[in-house]
Amino acid sequence: MKKDLKKFPSNFLWGGAIAANQTEGAWNEDNKSITVQDCMKFKADKLGIANFSKLFETSRKELEMAQKSKNDNLFPKRHGIDFYHHYKSDIKLFAEMGFKTLRLSIQWARIYPDVDSNLPNEKGLKFYENVFKELHKYNIEPIVTLSHYEIPLQIVNKYHGWYSRKVIDLFVKYASTCFNRYKSLVKYWLTFNEVDAMIRHPLTSGGLLKEDFQKMNIPFEEAIYQAMHHQMIASAITTNLCHKIIPNSYVGCMLTKLLFYPYSQRPEDNLAAQHRMREIYRYSDIQVFGQYPEFLKQEIINKGFNIETKPEDEMILKEGTVDFVSFSYYMSSLEAANKNGLELAPGNTVNGVKNPYLNSSEWGWQSDPSGLRYSLIELYDRYRKPLFVIENGLGAKDKLENNGQIHDKYRMQYLKEHVEAMAKAINIDGVELMGYTWWGCIDLVSESTRQMSKRYGFIYVDLDDYGNGTYKRYKKDSFNYYKKIIASNGTDLNFA
Ligand code: BG6
Repeated sequence: MKKDLKKFPSNFLWGGAIAANQTEGAWNEDNKSITVQDCMKFKADKLGIANFSKLFETSRKELEMAQKSKNDNLFPKRHGIDFYHHYKSDIKLFAEMGFKTLRLSIQWARIYPDVDSNLPNEKGLKFYENVFKELHKYNIEPIVTLSHYEIPLQIVNKYHGWYSRKVIDLFVKYASTCFNRYKSLVKYWLTFNEVDAMIRHPLTSGGLLKEDFQKMNIPFEEAIYQAMHHQMIASAITTNLCHKIIPNSYVGCMLTKLLFYPYSQRPEDNLAAQHRMREIYRYSDIQVFGQYPEFLKQEIINKGFNIETKPEDEMILKEGTVDFVSFSYYMSSLEAANKNGLELAPGNTVNGVKNPYLNSSEWGWQSDPSGLRYSLIELYDRYRKPLFVIENGLGAKDKLENNGQIHDKYRMQYLKEHVEAMAKAINIDGVELMGYTWWGCIDLVSESTRQMSKRYGFIYVDLDDYGNGTYKRYKKDSFNYYKKIIASNGTDLNFA
């Protein structure tokens, strides 16, 4: 009998993904303290796409001004889409689409407004408990990230971010509070979002402010590697702890699955692309294999960095390996040994060389569904662990029509092609895939540009880049399309 090449496993986890800092709002309600994200200004309209890396740069002065500012509209993460007050109706809409899972994050600053305190904030704990219970009401399984670029500002100001080893203890305290409180409600956990990202945006990933390290005469790149070491230790300890506190739990790592193909057939370009790819795997390798890869050790030696470790670190890493590998995937790029004169294309917090065979989104990201299949094969061959596409999606400018409709065929096309790619990876390439969560299943504030106008959702939220709007939710055409995909377990992909 011929095999059905469109088949997805019967327990495949279809759903959506959001992050607390991009959706919740209520930035100073119920005792929550201020985070780095609450201080990040909207400046995309001034910088434009090409300068996107500048979006992550912030000075000490800007941080101080932000702390004093009462103008919440300047800081889009402060209002998000007000999920904090809309979560019940939003979850109802997710349930209507047939979600089996929702990936979301907890904000450390809600659980421990004072990171040094030993008393968690009951109001913060209660909020997430209510959200998880609401999800279970509809049989939606929560997948929870402990840290999705949500660093309490206190960690930056008092500890210079993850540079300080003390932050490991503070994070473990926070994580264990969450595991104990939610052990009957959450079995899927992720420690850090996009664990390779600190080198690209050190402040939002690691709480590291360049200026502070310059003043202390510490090379900034060395500080990043030190902070990453601490995050790896914290991740391993919490993974291990989660397995102990919640015996049936399933803990994953999460990496940014960037993809660089060689620009030409030149061997040097091939090597350059291989090198770029290895950079991406540096930290998920540690989380999966329980030890530093040799190439990372070598890199640290070659750069002359002095990374402080403790004798017990080796054992901690060994004992805290993950159960599955989750990743974000949006686009691909090319890499060349010599990029002089080549046209560049922006991607997810990276610049790569433009690929003439791919179409780009309005933000210049080069859409590549085959690259998803390629990535799944590559990750499965490397790690031999179940995989999870925990973020994938298309940021686009949507138009709300007068009759309340939004026609987003482009999003449906992107979704269709990526679902087809997953089906091939499962049925032809033998990849073990647990699930798929569409990024920003409801419109949210963009991580990099902090725009509302970069919309990913199947649900439109009436809000503009400056925080003006009614917060009213509207179903886009893609809402019913995704509903159909889930109902048919990924086999009915037709749309008119
Ligand atoms: C991922 C992040 O890298 O990309 C998300 O985990 C982010 O937080 C997503 O929103 C899309 O990026 P952006 O910049 O378009 O929001």
